[in-house]
Amino acid sequence: MTVCEYKPGLEGIPATQSSISFVDGKQGILEYRGINITELAYQSTFLETSYLLIWGALPTQEELADFEHEICYHRRLKYRIRDMMKCFPESGHPMDALQACAAALGLFYSRRALDDPAYIRAAAVRLLAKIPTMVAAFQLMRKGNDPVQPRDDLDYSANFLYMLSEREPDPLAAKIFDICLTLHAEHTINASTFSAMVTASTLTDPYAVVASAVGTLAGPLHGGANEEVIEMLEEIGSVGNVESYLDKCLAHKSKVMGFGHRVYKVKDPRATILQELAQQLFDKFGGDHYYDIALALEAGVAKRLGEKGIYPNVDFYSGLVYRKLGIPTDLFTPVFAIARVSGWLAHWKEQLGENRIFRPTQIYTGSHQTPYQPIEER
Ligand code: SDX
Repeated sequence: MTVCEYKPGLEGIPATQSSISFVDGKQGILEYRGINITELAYQSTFLETSYLLIWGALPTQEELADFEHEICYHRRLKYRIRDMMKCFPESGHPMDALQACAAALGLFYSRRALDDPAYIRAAAVRLLAKIPTMVAAFQLMRKGNDPVQPRDDLDYSANFLYMLSEREPDPLAAKIFDICLTLHAEHTINASTFSAMVTASTLTDPYAVVASAVGTLAGPLHGGANEEVIEMLEEIGSVGNVESYLDKCLAHKSKVMGFGHRVYKVKDPRATILQELAQQLFDKFGGDHYYDIALALEAGVAKRLGEKGIYPNVDFYSGLVYRKLGIPTDLFTPVFAIARVSGWLAHWKEQLGENRIFRPTQIYTGSHQTPYQPIEER
């Protein structure tokens, strides 16, 4: 075996062969199963896109209807999961609650029939169906309310917004939320997907796969950035403070949240669509002065860091959309997780098709033959 050069963060190292999605970071192109993200965002739905990602082809009308029906049927949570959630501290972060709930599903559905397509489908349906209910239930419970039951007459996205706010959402709001889910559904071998693949490669159950990915998504360098973007806009406070904020940020070598990407060296195509969605919401429901700050920040970062290829990523404008939809800031990353479950599942299924356990190597930098020093001598 040839010895490879060590690349921190595995930059540029292929970890798999995959036909699920494709990113051209120089041209700003993203495709799911070969279909451009813009076409999917405006013409598909999140559930249809999830089917495409997991099973590799767009469903027929009948296949989609069956899939939607199954998801609808499995949205409810077992009362024991709800009881478990009642013990969670209200001050806990919803991503931690979600990770615990996803893992807890494995207690109820632990069979590992990984070579059985019916098992794969049932697990995928269950996770896609129940994760939004868990996020909404935690939101209501931490306010001291009982979770509301899913409504079978509402589609996936409208039902989530309903379960969160206990009000039927405006149709435009529900449609825009659904597009957000499609945009976040999959993105090649990002950190949480890699985490899912490593876990999947041990042939453990899919609930452990998703729980490990949720934990990885939570960090501020990954999905957690969407929450930090809004906190940053709050801290900046006004358009007039943008330049001084950037001066301070760059002098301290801090990262401007929502900017930069390992693969994109231009503006993330998802950020462009999310910005359009934010504008549609502002046109209908009124503007948001944070949007003006965001525009000034984008211009300021382009001027200072554009040469390095640092532009808005998916997390920059998503928070502004979610804010307008009335979603609390600390649910932004759980919403990302709701969407990314379909990508994680697609990679889980692909990984099982040609599995080999992930077991990379290391370059050892420690000592050898070090004598053990008894504790009384230390
Ligand atoms: C997501 O991988 C995916 O696909 C992820 C994702 C998905 O859909 O799954 O797209 C979702 O995670 C989006 C990214 C969200 N994170 C943030 O917004 C946090 C801020 N961004 C960064 O920390 C950073 O850009 C990363 C983590 C996104 C990428 O990290 P890299 O590839 O390891 O790049 P790096 O940190 O080594 O930076 C390279 C250079 C450095 O400058 P030099 O030391 O070479 O001079 O670019 C600079 C960095 O200082 N840089 C930034 C910056 N991002 C990179 N400088 C200021 N602000 C930034 N945001």
